[in-house]
Parts: sequence; C-alpha cells; structure tokens
Amino acid sequence: MSMIRAITCSSKRFISTYNRPIKVLGIETSCDDTSAAIVTSDRKILAEVVRGQQELHEPMGGIVPTLASKGHSRNLPGVICETLDRAGLLVQDLDAIAVTRGPGLPPCLPVGLNAAKTLAAVSKKPLIGVHHMEAHALTARLTTENDLNQPAPAFPFMTLLISGGHTLLLTCNNIGDYNQLGTTLDNAVGEAIDKTARLLDLEWIKGRRGGPGAALERAALQGDPERFLPRLPTPMLQRNKSVIGFSFSGLKTAVARLIEMDKLVDLKKPQDVSDMAAAFQIACIRHLEQKIALALERELVELKKPLTALVVSGGVASNTLFRSRLEALAHAYHLPLICPPPQLCTDNGVMIAWAGLERFQAGLIDEYTITTLPKWPLEELKFRDE
Ligand code: KG4
Ligand code: ZN
Repeated sequence: MSMIRAITCSSKRFISTYNRPIKVLGIETSCDDTSAAIVTSDRKILAEVVRGQQELHEPMGGIVPTLASKGHSRNLPGVICETLDRAGLLVQDLDAIAVTRGPGLPPCLPVGLNAAKTLAAVSKKPLIGVHHMEAHALTARLTTENDLNQPAPAFPFMTLLISGGHTLLLTCNNIGDYNQLGTTLDNAVGEAIDKTARLLDLEWIKGRRGGPGAALERAALQGDPERFLPRLPTPMLQRNKSVIGFSFSGLKTAVARLIEMDKLVDLKKPQDVSDMAAAFQIACIRHLEQKIALALERELVELKKPLTALVVSGGVASNTLFRSRLEALAHAYHLPLICPPPQLCTDNGVMIAWAGLERFQAGLIDEYTITTLPKWPLEELKFRDE
C-alpha cells in the first residue's frame, strides 16, 4: 500500500512538468449506460464509446439496478478496449484514469471503479474518482471551445443539473467548490418525465439519446400545451413561493389523475397523448424558470456575484424546448446559456474523462483504496481529501 501511495503522490508532483497535452481515460457505469472516452488537455475527444442497455430495461418499464450491473460487467471490458483502439493508444500512453465514484446505483458503480483501479494500479497511473454531477457541470468547459461566440464558462457560473436522479441549482465557484442553491423536495425532473412517459404508454426511442425522455419530447412536438395546462398545478405556489427548491411529484400525479380518474386523456388517441405530453413539459419548464429567476435575482442582482454564465446539463438538458426556454431566461439576465451538445448532456464517458482531467490538473488525485459513494452531496467535494 505504501508503494501505491508513493506512486499517486509522486504523480501529484509530476503534474506541473508536463509540456505536452495530457490524456485521460474516463469510465462511466453509474446508471444504465456503459461508457468510456479519452480526452486531452487541449480539449480534444480522441475516442468515445457508449453502450446502452435499453433492451434490458424497457420490457421492465424502467431501470432495474441488478440488471444494469450485469450489463456493465458484460460490456465494460469491450467498451474500454474499443475506446483505446479508436484512439490508437495503449493504457501505458495515458496520463491518468478517471472513473465515476458516485452518486449512482449501488450495484453499478463498483463495476467501473474496480476496472479503473485495476487499470491504474497495473499501469502505475494516477486514479481520479469523479463526482457524476460535477462531471455533468464541467463538460460545458470542454465542449464550447470551437464556438467563438461561446467561450468556455469561467468560474463562477450558475449551473442547473437536470437528470434522472437530480434537480440541482448551484453556483460553481471552482473545481470541487459548489454552493447548492436549491434541490428537489421529491422527484427529480427526469424521474417525473420518465414516469409520465410511462403513464402515457410511450414507446421508448431507440439508440443513443433515446429512452422515455426522448419519447416524451417527440410526443410533445405534435401537441397543443394549452389544452391540458390549466388542469396541471403550479408547484410550490403558496407557502413555498419564495423558496428556491423544486417539486415535480405533484405534476406527475396530476397527469395520472387526468388519465386514470378523470378519463380526460384517451391513451388510444395520439392527439390526447401529445397534448398531455406538451402540457406536462411546459409545466416542468415554467417551474424551473420561476425558481432559476429567483436564484438569479438573489445571486446576481442582490448579492452581485460575478456570474459568467448559466450552464445547464444532465440528460433533460438534451431536450430542445428546455434549452431554448432557458436560453431566453439567461439572456434576460444578460448571461449566456451554455449547454453541452445534446449527446454529451446524457450520461457519457467524455464528461468523466474531462472532469477527471480538470481535477488532475488541479492536483486532485485519489488513492487506489477509494470505494464508491452511491449518495454523495456535491457540496461535500469541498471537504473531501482522501
Ligand atoms: O444524466 P442522465 O443521462 O442520467 C442520470 O444521471 O440520471 O439523465 C437521464 C434523464 C432521464 O430521466 C431521461 O428520461 C432524461 O434524462 N432525458 C430527457 C431527454 N433525454 C433524456 N428528458 C427530456 N427530454 C429528452 N430529450
Ligand atoms: Zn447523469
């Protein structure tokens, strides 16, 4: 063990002596996508492989953690090999190995972490355990480089992370330094979207960027939101009006009631389904907009924080309507909206490799003894040094 410690510590000292772009492999197995990627410090994605598991989970109506873990065990060796082959690299050519340490599904995280630890230990490379939500936030700093109108967001920025497990509004002050402004009191927005897609009996869209969220987005495209919107509640309307926090379970329950009890939505009629999907989507967006506006008023206007951008990421941020509405909101506060490209909003290895690279450059390297953290508040990153 002391030898391993010496290796990781000597790598820490080594960082400043690089005079070429560094290369980091990222591995992601926190949910249902098995993914690996290699990125460089001059912001190139050398290779990326994502293998989904839709065929395992769609028949079950949602993600089953034990099945997902088996899927990762089956797929991960091939995914890592293919990533290295596509980049034309061997493990020895890498400078560090990054992996999602948490948060995520308890049976899934160890598949990636154990693979990363073994690769790092046998090749004597530094290991970096990455917080999945930090990775979603930091990807925006990788992917904006080619667009001159969109410089990579400098710290501090406000970030909204909307995924299947989280609805987080934060200020990102630096690598590993986040202040949570608001979170959800019940369901995450992605979770409510997935359950609503199921209530509407939508067939998942196949392939990468597929699944129930993409199915809801597609159904909503043909819909008129105004038909059912007046029948949906406005979350946190009275008592919690001035609280920066989110609640999506009431919206989801209201959709269930309109379908199952009031019989206002006939699932056999595509127009009914589309109108309901469109109304639900708009209700979610309006709720997010209202709470982000409260946070911007406080942070930007009252506290005069020098925020550089509103960064929105996580699977739900791949939705075109969410992106365009939040862009208009950011512009009203004279901020750019920065979202990674849609395929890098949903889970992927690139974001893990990039967040690992940013942490590596900041000298934040982990021991080979780290274990998974299925529940891991992002604010704790500030205090963790183990
Ligand atoms: O970040 P992500 O890929 O995985 C987690 O970390 O949870 O986010 C997955 C969530 C799911 O709830 C999925 O339905 C939602 O993102 N999602 C979408 C879209 N694509 C994925 N929601 C709305 N519209 C989409 N196009
Ligand atoms: Zn995610």
